[in-house]
Amino acid sequence: MRAVVVRRFGGPEVLEFAEVPVPEPGPGQVRIRVAAAAVNPVDLATRSGVLSAAGVVPARAVLGLGWDVAGSIDDAGDTGFRAGEAVVGLRDRIATPLGAYAERIVLDASAVAPAPVGVSAVEAATLPLNALTAAQALDLVETTGTVLVTGAAGAVGGYAVALAHARKLRVVAVASEADEAQVRAFGADEFVPRGPSLGDRVRAVVPGGVDAALDTALLGLDALDAVRGGGEFVAFAAGAAPIPLRGIRVRTVWIRADGGRLAELARLAENGTLPLRVAGTLPLAEAGAAHERLAAGGLRGRLVLTP
Ligand SMILES: NC(=O)c1ccc[n+]([C@@H]2O[C@H](COP(=O)([O-])OP(=O)(O)OC[C@H]3O[C@@H](n4cnc5c(N)ncnc54)[C@H](OP(=O)(O)O)[C@@H]3O)[C@@H](O)[C@H]2O)c1
Repeated sequence: MRAVVVRRFGGPEVLEFAEVPVPEPGPGQVRIRVAAAAVNPVDLATRSGVLSAAGVVPARAVLGLGWDVAGSIDDAGDTGFRAGEAVVGLRDRIATPLGAYAERIVLDASAVAPAPVGVSAVEAATLPLNALTAAQALDLVETTGTVLVTGAAGAVGGYAVALAHARKLRVVAVASEADEAQVRAFGADEFVPRGPSLGDRVRAVVPGGVDAALDTALLGLDALDAVRGGGEFVAFAAGAAPIPLRGIRVRTVWIRADGGRLAELARLAENGTLPLRVAGTLPLAEAGAAHERLAAGGLRGRLVLTP
């Protein structure tokens, strides 16, 4: 079968469309026939070597790419899944030789959930990584009051706005002015355009500052400045957590696979609570072009590779 792998770090040109053995499921695992794999910022950071330099990705001779998968069960092994069943799944191990950019992938059954009904595999592939991250980030905050979401038009940010709105939190969204209508449609109650002096402009809307911030745009101290003393802050990347000034509790979310939670999120995608956004579809062999387009910025929704 074919898969995209890297054997050295660098630009999109290091992506190899290679012939690899079909992976065999072990106990508690399923093999999925991949219909769609979304392209995420973590794939670019893995390919470029940024995550390796940061100590997040250990040295490996071959690295697979791709976390998000939608497809059908090819081999259900000893699990409760059925052959042919439409599923979504998340590869959350960062340094395996095979990822979702492949014709087949083996995952722990606990990382897999029935696919949302009534949406395409391409749309479904945009759900697992970013919706689970948004949900697990929201789990880290206790407030029932006001939450700031930076990068609100992004993949994680859009889901964070929608999930916070569904929890009846008051959502203050930060994004480009051009994205205001979109993030309000996700469920934002207040909109603050991105730019300098963010803390002052958020405090003009929420006197004293917000109770919590989900900083998906990695603004760090600029976003922390918008949080009230004793509030909560969630960072989304290694090195993106600001110093916990003014008694603010700062935590970093680290995504983990959770099939049960993913099944709940799939239901929210089915009923329209979570917007599935596709920026474009490319063949698996054109993963390099997808990486270039994501790196260029300005995409709304995910690029999705189809084997
Ligand atoms: N820790 C974890 O477990 C985990 C899991 C998933 C993702 N992540 C990380 O979370 C971050 C967001 O991921 P994503 O997939 O949502 O990325 P994304 O789709 O590229 O979204 C990022 C958003 O932030 C916006 N942005 C950039 N600079 C900004 C600024 N100064 N002010 C306001 N908005 C700004 C971008 O707008 P433009 O496109 O207009 O620049 C974009 O809409 C990434 O760093 C990703 O690696 C972490």
